[in-house]
Amino acid sequence: MNSLQGIFAYLNYHVPQTRREIIETLFKGLQRLEYRGYDSAGIGIDGGNNKEWEDKGKQISIIKRNGKIKTLEEEVNKQEDVDFDAEFETHFGIAHTRWATHGVPNIVNSHPQRSDKDNEFIVIHNGIITNHKNLRKFLESKGYEFESETDTESIAKLIKYVHDNSESENISFATLVERVIQQLEGAFALVFKSVHFPGQAVCTSTIIEHTNRVIFLEDNDVAAVVAGCLSIHRVERTPSDCPARGIQTLQVEMQQMMKGNYSSFMQKEIFEQPESVVNTMRGRVNFENNTVILGGLKDSIKEIRRCRRLLIIACGTSYHSGLATRQILEELTELPVTVELSSDFLDRSTPVFRDDVCFFLSQSGETADTLMALRYCKGRRTLTVGITNTVGSSISRETDCGVHINAGPEIGVASTKVYTSQFVALVMFALMMSEDRISMQQRRKEIIQGLQNLPEQIKEVLSSDEEIQRLASELYQQKSVLIMGRGYHYATCLEGALKIKEITFMHSEGILAGELKHGPLALVDHRMPVIMVVMRDPTFVKCQNALQQVVARQGRPILICEKNDEETMKNAYRAIKVPHTVDCLQGILSVIPLQLLAFHLAVLRGYDVDDNKRLRKIEADYVPM
Ligand code: UD1
Ligand code: BG6
Repeated sequence: MNSLQGIFAYLNYHVPQTRREIIETLFKGLQRLEYRGYDSAGIGIDGGNNKEWEDKGKQISIIKRNGKIKTLEEEVNKQEDVDFDAEFETHFGIAHTRWATHGVPNIVNSHPQRSDKDNEFIVIHNGIITNHKNLRKFLESKGYEFESETDTESIAKLIKYVHDNSESENISFATLVERVIQQLEGAFALVFKSVHFPGQAVCTSTIIEHTNRVIFLEDNDVAAVVAGCLSIHRVERTPSDCPARGIQTLQVEMQQMMKGNYSSFMQKEIFEQPESVVNTMRGRVNFENNTVILGGLKDSIKEIRRCRRLLIIACGTSYHSGLATRQILEELTELPVTVELSSDFLDRSTPVFRDDVCFFLSQSGETADTLMALRYCKGRRTLTVGITNTVGSSISRETDCGVHINAGPEIGVASTKVYTSQFVALVMFALMMSEDRISMQQRRKEIIQGLQNLPEQIKEVLSSDEEIQRLASELYQQKSVLIMGRGYHYATCLEGALKIKEITFMHSEGILAGELKHGPLALVDHRMPVIMVVMRDPTFVKCQNALQQVVARQGRPILICEKNDEETMKNAYRAIKVPHTVDCLQGILSVIPLQLLAFHLAVLRGYDVDDNKRLRKIEADYVPM
C-alpha cells in the first residue's frame, strides 16, 4: 500500500516473510517516494521474536531518524539484538518520510506518531489537522501527555482515547478509525497500525496499490484490510451515529473548546488571524532565503508565466481579496489583471481566451456563481486556478490547479480570517511569479520580510479591541456609515462596508476617495459617520486632500492610520492606529479594525453575529446537488 505523499505501508498476509525482507520492502517503498523531498523518516513494525523489544513489553517498534532514508536504514541495521531472520506469516509494516509543517524536523516529530509509550496505536499522516490544538487540549485534559509538536500526535492519542472509551462495544479497527476521523478537520491521508489489531491495516484517503491495481479513495473513505480482505466504507461525517460515551463527551467539550473564551465564532476567527496567516504561509515561504513555493502551482507556474492576462473571479469577501491584491499582482507579474464579480462575469458572457489564466477565489469552494463561472471558463479551455479554503470542495476539485489557503474552518457568518489568508495567498503567488526577475528582488525581499512580521503586527492591531468597542458604542445607533480610501485600501473600504452591512444591518458604503468629488461628498455633513483609511503610501497626499474635503464639510472623520502619523491624526475626530508594513500588505492591517468594529456594532445592536451562514449558503448560493 502506498500514497503519493511520503506514506508507504506493506502487508503480507499468509505469505511468510522475514523481518529483513519486510524492512527491505518498506525502505524500497520509501526510496520510490524520495523525489518528493523530506527531512526525516520512520518505520513501524512488529517487535515480536526480539528479546530486547519483548522485554520492554512492546509489540510494535518504531524507529525514526532525522535526515536521509539511508541514515534510518543504517540505524535499523545497527540494532544488534534484533532477529532479522524472524519469520512472520502475516505482518503489517508502515513507513513515512516527513516534510516538516508542524514542529521542527527531529526524531520526536517524525512519524509514526504513537498513542502512548507502549505504542498501542501508531499512525503515519500526510496533510494538516486544523483542529489539532483543540484535540490536544481535550486529550491533555483527559491526562494524555504529548511528546511532539506535531498535529499528527493528536490523532494517535485520540484513537487510543476512543478505543479505551468503547472497549465494551468490541468494535472493529475500521469502525474505530471512522469514529476518529469524524472528529478531524483538515486534509489528511492516514495509515493506522495497532497492537490490538495485529496484521490489520486501516487507511483513509489515500491510494492503495494492490499489486498492479490502484484504488483511489475519496475523501471520508476508510479502507481496512482484515484477514487479507479489503473493504472500503464511506464515513458520513455526522455526529449522530457515534454512540460511544467517549465520543459524546468529546463532541460536547470540543464545541465549547472551539469557541474558547470568545462569545462567537466570528470574534474567535478575527482573533485567530495571527495564526491563520501563518498557516497559509506554513511550508511555503522560506524567510531565510526569501523564496516562496506553492506546491499546488509548482507544475503550472511556467504556463501561468506565459499567459497574457490574469482574471480573478469571485463573490463577496473573496472578490474583495482579489481587488486588494490586484495592484501587487500587476506590479510583480507585469500582466493585466482584471477582477470580476462572478455573477457579472457570467451576465456579460465575458470573452476569455486560451492564453488567459482564470483564478477562482472562494472560502467554501461551493458558491454557485463562482462555480458556474469556473465551468464557463473551462468550456473555453483557459487554465483555471482555485484559491480555496475547503479541501475537496467543487472548486478545489474542478480547477486545473490551485492553492488551499489552510485558514481552518470559518464558521461565523462574516468572512474574516479567510479574507486575510486569501490576501496572503495571492501575494505569495505574485512573489512566486516574479522569483526570476532580478530587478524585482529588492521589492520581493521587502514583501517577504513584511509577511514574516505580519503575525506580530496583527496581534498589535487586535490589541485595539477595547478602543474599537468604545467607538462602536458611539456609532451603533446610527443609520449609516461611510468608509473611504483609495489605492491599496479601496478593497479595505468595500470589505469593511460589507462586514457592517452583513451583520449589523446598518447601511454602509465603501467609497473610493478619488470619486468623492464626483458625487459621494454630497452625503458628508457633521452627522454622517465617516471612516477614512489614510496610510503612508503613494496615495497619501491624495488621501490628505480627501480628508480636507471631508473636514471642510464639517465631517468628523474617524481615521484608520499609521501609528506614528501625527500629521494625519491632527485632523481626526477619532483615530485607530495600526503599525506600518510594506504598502502592499498594509491592507491586511487596515481591514482588521473594521472587522472588529462590525463585530461590536452587531453585538451592541443585539444581533447574533454568527447567524447560520451554512444554512443561508445552502439555500441561496450553493449549486443544488
Ligand atoms: C500539499 C498537501 C499538504 C501537504 C503538502 C506537503 C493536500 C490538500 N495538501 O499541500 O497537506 O502538507 O502538500 O507535501 O493534500 N488544488 C486545486 N484547486 C484548488 C486548490 C488546490 O486544483 O483550489 C490542487 C493543487 O494544485 C494541488 C492540490 O490541490 O495539486 C493540493 O493543493 P495545496 O494543498 O495547496 O498543495 P500543497 O501546499 O502542496
Ligand atoms: C456570500 C457570503 O454568500 O458568499 C459572503 O455571504 C461570501 O460572506 C461570499 O464572501 C463568497 O463566498 P465564498 O465561499 O465563495 O468565498
